This record gives sequence, structure tokens and C-alpha cells, in this order.
Amino acid sequence: TLPRVYVTRSVPPDGLEILRNSGQVQFEMWDSDDPVPREELLKRVKGIDGLLCVLTEKIDAELLDAAGPNLRVVSTMSVGYDHLSLSELKKRGIRVGYTPDVLTDAVAELTVALLLCTSRRLTEATHEAKTGGWGTWRTLWLCGYELANSTVGIMGLGRIGLAIAERLKPFKVKKFIYTDVAPRPELANQIQAEYVSMDEMAKQSDFLVVCCALTPETQGICNKELFSKMKKTSIFINTSRGGVVNQEDLYDALATGQIAAAGLDVTVPEPLPTSHPLFSLKNCVILPHIASASFTTRNAMSSLATNNLLAGLRGNAMEKELKL
Ligand code: GLV
Ligand code: GLV
Repeated sequence: TLPRVYVTRSVPPDGLEILRNSGQVQFEMWDSDDPVPREELLKRVKGIDGLLCVLTEKIDAELLDAAGPNLRVVSTMSVGYDHLSLSELKKRGIRVGYTPDVLTDAVAELTVALLLCTSRRLTEATHEAKTGGWGTWRTLWLCGYELANSTVGIMGLGRIGLAIAERLKPFKVKKFIYTDVAPRPELANQIQAEYVSMDEMAKQSDFLVVCCALTPETQGICNKELFSKMKKTSIFINTSRGGVVNQEDLYDALATGQIAAAGLDVTVPEPLPTSHPLFSLKNCVILPHIASASFTTRNAMSSLATNNLLAGLRGNAMEKELKL
């Protein structure tokens, strides 16, 4: 009999076609735009050989125990892997596929869009135009901050950080600086970026862009201490994971004018409740985790995740496998 696979969400057409036509697996799919309820998921995974999931599913010991010993491949349709308990997967010898590279362009584009939207106050501006605030042309009304001659700090210079910097460069950025667990000269040289301490990053950045992975080391590192060292005119952007930011500290920094504005594509929790204090701030732009949301990219992610899954089940090398 064919390996059994559970798919936790409606898969975009390209990936679904590969799955249907492979003839290699029998699969069951939670064919919905909304997450499968946890109880249902724990039932459905019983005895499966492979799991295709998205970032809303916690893949932890409880789930792996519910699946049982046949499970040998978990493939996530995401570049982020903070929803996966890597130690539990490793312990059980389960291989893990993910989807880097194919989403880099889309995420970099969205990050630039969010940055400009935040620095030039676009959501505020369209709101004013639509609701009668546009009394006349005013000299300092809705003024923001420009990229020209600025220093841009990249927290986490990986594929995505580099792609963001490459796109910002034509805006006449003066200087790129970056932090990471270690210097990345092969990437940094492409944008003449200087490796600095967190302290220097906070002090120098006119735009601080977070694009690192969420790990125990990066959990909550954007906190009061960091914000207090930033300039009053600086802009904070996060398209990585909400967990990297201490949101209470960010709220305080924005509300007291310690920093100028923030643009967030990611929050804790997701969705962020509409009553959350961050939504009450004019200088905070919040997007519903859409950085990779282009048709091309979501289809590419679905194909890659499906191919990773099938390769793993065959015992072959995956196109993109996470080293555990
Ligand atoms: C999106 O956040 C992803 O991890 O792919
Ligand atoms: C702006 O529209 C200008 O003419 O300066």
C-alpha cells in the first residue's frame, strides 16, 4: 500500500497537482482556508507516513506521539520553522523539509513596501484623504522620513536580508550595517554592509529591519533596551516573527515617541486582537502576515513543499531539507 500523508490545509494549485499526479502517496487534506482544529489534527495524523503542514500547526511531541512511529517526513510550506520542535523531530529520526529561496523576492518586496508605507505614513495619508482630513496642502503635514542618505540596519543578514538591502540600495541608502550570530562576509560584501554590535545597530540605524529567524537566542531581543538606544526619528520594521519583539516595549517606544514608527507583518499572537493597544497608534502599521503572499510565490512554496515531502518519503535527498 502507498504511504499515507496528511495535509493540514488547502494547498495552492501547483502543489496540489503534484500531489494528485504523483501516484506515490494516498493523502487526506484539510481542505479549508482555516486551520484544522487541534483535536481533529491529533486524530487525523494517526499512522501517517508523511505530514504536509503550514506555520499555524505546532509540530510538537504531543502531535508526533499521536502520529506514531511510521511518520518519517514533515514538510512545512514555510521558510520559518519556529512552529516545529526540532529536538523532538530529531529524536525520532524524522526528516524536515521547508521552503527557503522561493519566497525571498516576495518577502523582500513586501518588506520594502511596508517600510515605505511606514516611513511616508501612507495608511495615515489615505485615511486622511478619504475621511475629510485633507483641508489643504500644508508644509509639514504628514511628513515622514526618507531613505536617501540613511543608515539601514539589517538584523539577520541571510537570503532575505540581502534581498531587502539590494532593493533599498537604489533609494540612495548611505550605509548598511548588520547584526547576526556571526559575520557573513560573503553576503555583506555584496552590499558593503558593516558588521556591528546590537548596541551600534540601535544607535546608528535610521531604519532597523528585522529579518532573522526566531530562535531561543532571538526571542524578545527587540526590547526596551534596544528601543531606548534608537533615534527618535528611526523606523522599526519586522517581517520575520513577532516573537523577536517585546510588544509591550515596542508599544511604549512608539507611544512615547522614543522611535518614530513601526511596520509589522508579524505579531504575537496572530491574528493580533483588534483591541490590541498597537492598533490604537497612528505610527504603527500592522499587516496580517502577508510577506510571501504573491500568487507566484505561494504556488512555488506549495510545489517545493510537496516535492520535499515526496522525495523524503522515497528516501531521496530533498530539494530543501532542514539540517537537524
Ligand atoms: C512565512 O512567514 C514563512 O515562514 O514562510
Ligand atoms: C509639490 O507638489 C510641489 O510642487 O512642490
